[in-house]
Amino acid sequence: MSPSFFRVSAALLPLLLTCTSVYGQNTTTATTTTTSSTTITTEDIPTATPSPTGALTDPLPSQAALPPKQAWCLSEIFCAGELLQTVNIAHLYPDDKTFADKPTTKSAQEVLNAFRNISSGTTYGQVVEFLQEDFTGEGQELEPLTLANLNPEPAFLKNVTNPVVKGFAQAVHGIWTQLIRGTNSTSLCSGSKCESSLIPLNHTFVVPGGRFREQYYWDSFWIVEGLLESELYDIANATLQNFMDELNTFGFIPNGGRIYYLNRSQPPLFIQMLSRYVAATGDRSILTRALPLAEKELTWWDTNRSVSVKSPFTNQTHKVYHYSVTNSAPRPESYLTDYTTANDPALPTLNDTAKAALYAELASGAESGWDYTTRWFSHQADGASLRDLNVRNTIAVDLNSILYASHIALRDLYNNTNPSRQSAHTTAANALREAILDLNWDSAKLAFYDFNLASNSRNDIFTAAAFYPYWSGIYPKEVLASKESAFGAFSSIHLVMNRYNGTFPATFIETHLQWDAPNAWPPHQYIALQALRHLPANVSSGALPTRPEGKSTFALLPAGQLGLEEAKLPGQPLTADRNATTSGPDADVSLLSGSVFNGGNASTTEEGWAAALGRQLANRYYASTLCSWHASGGSIPDILPRLSDAELNVTQSTSSFGHMFEKFSNLDIDSAGRGGEYVVQAGFGWTNGVLLWVASNYGNVLAAPQCPNLLEGVTAGGSNTKTGGGSENDAMVVRTPAFAVSIVLAGMLSLLYYQ
Ligand SMILES: *[C@@H]1O[C@H](CO)[C@@H](O)[C@H](O)[C@H]1NC(C)=O
Ligand SMILES: *[C@@H]1O[C@H](CO)[C@@H](O)[C@H](O)[C@H]1NC(C)=O
Ligand SMILES: *[C@@H]1O[C@H](CO)[C@@H](O)[C@H](O)[C@H]1NC(C)=O
Ligand SMILES: *[C@@H]1O[C@H](CO)[C@@H](O)[C@H](O)[C@H]1NC(C)=O
Ligand SMILES: *[C@@H]1O[C@H](CO)[C@@H](O)[C@H](O)[C@H]1NC(C)=O
Ligand SMILES: *[C@@H]1O[C@H](CO)[C@@H](O)[C@H](O)[C@H]1NC(C)=O
Ligand SMILES: *[C@@H]1O[C@H](CO)[C@@H](O)[C@H](O)[C@H]1NC(C)=O
Ligand SMILES: *[C@@H]1O[C@H](CO)[C@@H](O)[C@H](O)[C@H]1NC(C)=O
Ligand SMILES: *[C@@H]1O[C@H](CO)[C@@H](O)[C@H](O)[C@H]1NC(C)=O
Ligand SMILES: *[C@@H]1O[C@H](CO)[C@@H](O)[C@H](O)[C@H]1NC(C)=O
Ligand SMILES: *[C@@H]1O[C@H](CO)[C@@H](O)[C@H](O)[C@H]1NC(C)=O
Ligand SMILES: *[C@@H]1O[C@H](CO)[C@@H](O)[C@H](O)[C@H]1NC(C)=O
Repeated sequence: MSPSFFRVSAALLPLLLTCTSVYGQNTTTATTTTTSSTTITTEDIPTATPSPTGALTDPLPSQAALPPKQAWCLSEIFCAGELLQTVNIAHLYPDDKTFADKPTTKSAQEVLNAFRNISSGTTYGQVVEFLQEDFTGEGQELEPLTLANLNPEPAFLKNVTNPVVKGFAQAVHGIWTQLIRGTNSTSLCSGSKCESSLIPLNHTFVVPGGRFREQYYWDSFWIVEGLLESELYDIANATLQNFMDELNTFGFIPNGGRIYYLNRSQPPLFIQMLSRYVAATGDRSILTRALPLAEKELTWWDTNRSVSVKSPFTNQTHKVYHYSVTNSAPRPESYLTDYTTANDPALPTLNDTAKAALYAELASGAESGWDYTTRWFSHQADGASLRDLNVRNTIAVDLNSILYASHIALRDLYNNTNPSRQSAHTTAANALREAILDLNWDSAKLAFYDFNLASNSRNDIFTAAAFYPYWSGIYPKEVLASKESAFGAFSSIHLVMNRYNGTFPATFIETHLQWDAPNAWPPHQYIALQALRHLPANVSSGALPTRPEGKSTFALLPAGQLGLEEAKLPGQPLTADRNATTSGPDADVSLLSGSVFNGGNASTTEEGWAAALGRQLANRYYASTLCSWHASGGSIPDILPRLSDAELNVTQSTSSFGHMFEKFSNLDIDSAGRGGEYVVQAGFGWTNGVLLWVASNYGNVLAAPQCPNLLEGVTAGGSNTKTGGGSENDAMVVRTPAFAVSIVLAGMLSLLYYQ
């Protein structure tokens, strides 16, 4: 899109070039502003060692022509160019991001000279030596900080009744101490001393975890929700201050804190974070700085990501938004992956124009946060691949809902102090609402879908993004018309609760892409829960409907809503070689009388259908996080003992102490998610944030989950790839029926607690 995007990018270049000298001053007052509650620890951040795939004396494989130099990313080391491509072709680290995050040990000029020395007939050994000589550990410019005054008993814990549930919430609250980072000002490159891809931040922040070692944009929304529950208001403030610095400096908030993210943003949740922070703390003093920068954020999306669309349904023309990144090279942090997608010898050869378009699509998919998913494919046929990405042509229902919610929240934050801006935001919000209801809402199927500019129609694929409009406050009149139609709009949640063991998947299409089935993501559970919570009382009361005789809960969905026949839905594994049937009443394997498996206990007082679904989904989320954490070595003193080494050996977790994963499997609550372009990450900012929010808001209806017994486990495909460590992530593990052998945490608790 647009010349103006280049304008923004070019404007920041001088800043990037000078920021090294700003931070390199050898002063006694560190430029990293740590809050009063933080002190520096000496804990090391581990780094990877190169492991060549060829013999050291072998030459590297031949390379495709270099992509064009990217105007927004000029480093000759960390941005697209000969050095980055050669190092990636050598494939010395499992994750391409490792190299992109390694500061040099020498000046850029010295590094480039050393590289030129080896750049003809280069061998693996030469690249290994070059990396060892000229680069240091990835992430060294960041330092772990300790939280000196973490309140061990934040008020939200009072909302939690069950002791196991409470103990876990308290343990997760404590994990913030491991995810707090600051910029290590002493290790930053000063002047020409060295070069690094880091965008140094002046305030403390929380990292998602694992390879995500910087501050990330959309992750931070759920991190802030958790920080507010944990009463870490100063860290939430610092997070916002960093984003405001970025808005001030770059004119937008980049995907994450590295220069190779400067061509793209992420789902724009800054105003939501701000709004939540102000509501939770009452600190309106932040708004003096924040309101103009919030306007800047919306202006950036308007200038760089809006598009005018004439509706085929009404002939009305709407201004709507899409993810659309200007880019014609592999992403530096996923260089080899993108390069391979474009140059795969097994696929047709692409000319330079087609490669450039593919690289723009790959970057746009990353901007959406959903990298990657069949949701973004131009068609759903078998054999469709990342080459079929159609992100820029998609009017994503979640993006437009977020921007709608941003206009509403910003208007409200003005609190009647700026009538003209308020009315501008009201107008913009109303127009966007109308556009979403026209382009994205299907009143017959009672669901929201993405609108596809290429086909000039709505996509058929149903995804977890369908719940964003409700979260943002958009309830179509059909949903408000009756309890029955309101339930119809949420009936897919009911289906998931009854049919699967885990939470709501990203899509119902099983692929090896990480934003497809069977993966279930913490942010989506939060959005779906909020969507249920905000339903008006008059349509959310009354009991959940029962299935028609001889049919499964699928029969309760409006025709065509999922875009799949029942038999095409992913199967729920029961044992190593047996799945539940895919249709008929037996498909609902998790259905219990009055509830669902790991769905909590129906309240004795009248519970409306929306509250019942919320209770079930909240409990499932708890079950997924708690069971996979316990299965990877987690324990709670006096409440939940650590599993035996024999059990933990099954998950390769004998030396682990519990992982909070970034994603889960909706088929197996003992397991992390799978697939994607990097191994499953543990940490994990948004997982913890959503867990704490769930504990606070559903604490009175959460029950201790029943986790499957690992020793009874049977692995599918002959390899043990349960949750442990995240080193292998591609096989689904199946066990014998859990009912018979479940470790009932509640039972164990009564043994330990009440004896
Ligand atoms: C940097 O600061 C350290 C500690 O105060 C001091 O020992 C050193 O001489 C300073 N280096 C320069 C180049 O000023
Ligand atoms: C280039 O290689 C030569 C021969 O191995 C070596 O003497 C020289 O120091 C190298 N130059 C750089 C900049 O690494
Ligand atoms: C606890 O629950 C109450 C009522 O359900 C709710 O208002 C409050 O926000 C929750 N969180 C905390 C920290 O009290
Ligand atoms: C900060 O960087 C300096 C210089 O590289 C290093 O000596 C120090 O250990 C780092 N501090 C932390 C906490 O990592
Ligand atoms: C938020 O952070 C800013 C920048 O560090 C600081 O000036 C301000 O006082 C903080 N606000 C509160 C309420 O602590
Ligand atoms: C951090 O603070 C320094 C010194 O005040 C300033 O020059 C720099 O622009 C700030 N960084 C950002 C990203 O705003
Ligand atoms: C849209 O405009 C076209 C051309 O004028 C017309 O044929 C069509 O019926 C209109 N559709 C609607 C829904 O108004
Ligand atoms: C590049 O390939 C595309 C798709 O095959 C084709 O439509 C286009 O004409 C080609 N462009 C050039 C410049 O060859
Ligand atoms: C909005 O402003 C009014 C008075 O102008 C004030 O009483 C009220 O507390 C403000 N609301 C918030 C949320 O600050
Ligand atoms: C069971 O369902 C899963 C998920 O859809 C699928 O991957 C697997 O192949 C199925 N297994 C059997 C035995 O049908
Ligand atoms: C751990 O599991 C491996 C197989 O993954 C097995 O070879 C080994 O004997 C087990 N060790 C223990 C102590 O159970
Ligand atoms: C799913 O839960 C059922 C009990 O509802 C159990 O029999 C089955 O083994 C579980 N499957 C997996 C993969 O955990």
